[in-house]
Amino acid sequence: MNLVYVADLSRMDEASAEEKAQYAGPDAGFIAQNVYLFCASEGLATVARGMVDRAALARLMRLSPQQSIILAQSVGYPAAH
Ligand SMILES: Cc1cc2nc3c(=O)[nH]c(=O)nc-3n(C[C@H](O)[C@H](O)[C@H](O)COP(=O)(O)O)c2cc1C
Repeated sequence: MNLVYVADLSRMDEASAEEKAQYAGPDAGFIAQNVYLFCASEGLATVARGMVDRAALARLMRLSPQQSIILAQSVGYPAAH
């Protein structure tokens, strides 16, 4: 399963573009960390992925220009040993 964290920059209309960008990273980080903790508790494997093709993904997800892909995170079963 691939989670894609998207910041909707239209939601903070009182903040500057710089402030929005500064909040979006930590927000996605908090969520990703919770997923890491959940996966650790359930014996699942997960990995944060910053290197995603944002333009292609945004097209496939039909995102608006205000919806910015911050981070992706894959969740799966650990490799068999
Ligand atoms: C914000 C962030 C983005 C990351 N993006 C990638 C990525 O795009 N590709 C990648 O291979 N690892 C990426 N990593 C590192 C992986 O999450 C992971 O730490 C690394 O692949 C080592 O995993 P392992 O210890 O399970 O082998 C990123 C880490 C962070 C914190």
